[in-house]
Amino acid sequence: MIGVIATRPGGPEVLELASMPDPEPAEGEVVLRVRATAVNRADILQRRGNYPPPPGASDVLGLEAAGTVERIGPGVTGWSEGDRAMALLSGGGYAERVAVPAVQLMRVPDNLNWILAAAVPEVFLTAWQALGRQARAGTGDWVLVHAAASGVGTAALQIARELGARTIGTTRSHEKAAFIEDLADHVVVPGPDGFAEEVTRITGGHGADVVVDLVGASYLRDNIACLATGGRVALIGLVGGTRTEIDLSELMRRRATLVGSTLRARPVDEKGEIVASFAEWGLPRLADGRLRPMVHDMIPLTRVADAHREVEADRAVGKVVLSVESDALIPM
Ligand SMILES: NC(=O)c1ccc[n+]([C@@H]2O[C@H](COP(=O)([O-])OP(=O)(O)OC[C@H]3O[C@@H](n4cnc5c(N)ncnc54)[C@H](OP(=O)(O)O)[C@@H]3O)[C@@H](O)[C@H]2O)c1
Repeated sequence: MIGVIATRPGGPEVLELASMPDPEPAEGEVVLRVRATAVNRADILQRRGNYPPPPGASDVLGLEAAGTVERIGPGVTGWSEGDRAMALLSGGGYAERVAVPAVQLMRVPDNLNWILAAAVPEVFLTAWQALGRQARAGTGDWVLVHAAASGVGTAALQIARELGARTIGTTRSHEKAAFIEDLADHVVVPGPDGFAEEVTRITGGHGADVVVDLVGASYLRDNIACLATGGRVALIGLVGGTRTEIDLSELMRRRATLVGSTLRARPVDEKGEIVASFAEWGLPRLADGRLRPMVHDMIPLTRVADAHREVEADRAVGKVVLSVESDALIPM
């Protein structure tokens, strides 16, 4: 089969289509015939050499895929050849086939084509883990989502709304702000003084009960400054840096919780739990349109470097999806 690897650490030009053996399904796994996959920030870090795959994961890039179940490994129940599935992966999605633990699969609702289905797993499961499980957002809460026009951000705004919360999204771009007006109750473009004052004003002085932070160091001080008493900050992205200084008394005074999470390095059974809980809560909502995967662009896998450039330039509103058409794939 053909899959995409980074031949060395570097820019998008190091991505290559390479010939490789088809994967075999191990105990508890299925092999998925991939019809579409999608780009995540982590793929860019991995390509640059800053985010190696966890032990045992494929060198082929790609943290999610949608396709049909082609082969079934020993011990797998509940799945049959030909079933439509979307998969959370530790790697290997940018390829014609990928082996994946069956517990990391979700059924594709009938209303989603391959492109939409490939835009679901990584961002909806990440946002669900942060909002539904860690920060426990609920009815009436004010939820502040940073980088709200991103893949994870657009998923988080929709999940928060479905949980009954009131939402505020931030983006640095006025153009992107217009695109997410329908998804958020309020959109804030932080100025030179940050966003804390504006969030405090919007919430009538209450502050944010939950912050879904995809930015990290550069936003932490403001996050705490506009946090409600008992507020929770779920830290899941670090595009704004990894180190900063905060006044811990501000956390204590607010009885605040700061919690972090990554999805990729978790053991299979933990990923399985997250997938199962989202499948129960989220699949009916995807099926009737209450949740909608946001796709910025669909690019063939043969142009994977262009897809990386688009994401790296912060141009995307939602996901950049890669379509995998076997006939078009020729190793470089
Ligand atoms: N912890 C986990 O398990 C997990 C899983 C998946 C993703 N993530 C993280 O979640 C974040 C979003 O992922 P994604 O794939 O959805 O990303 P994405 O669509 O590529 O969007 C990232 C967005 O972050 C904003 N941004 C970039 N640099 C920034 C800066 N210095 N300050 C403020 N905002 C900045 C930009 O939005 P604007 O231009 O609109 O401001 C950019 O479009 C990433 O940080 C990713 O690593 C974490």
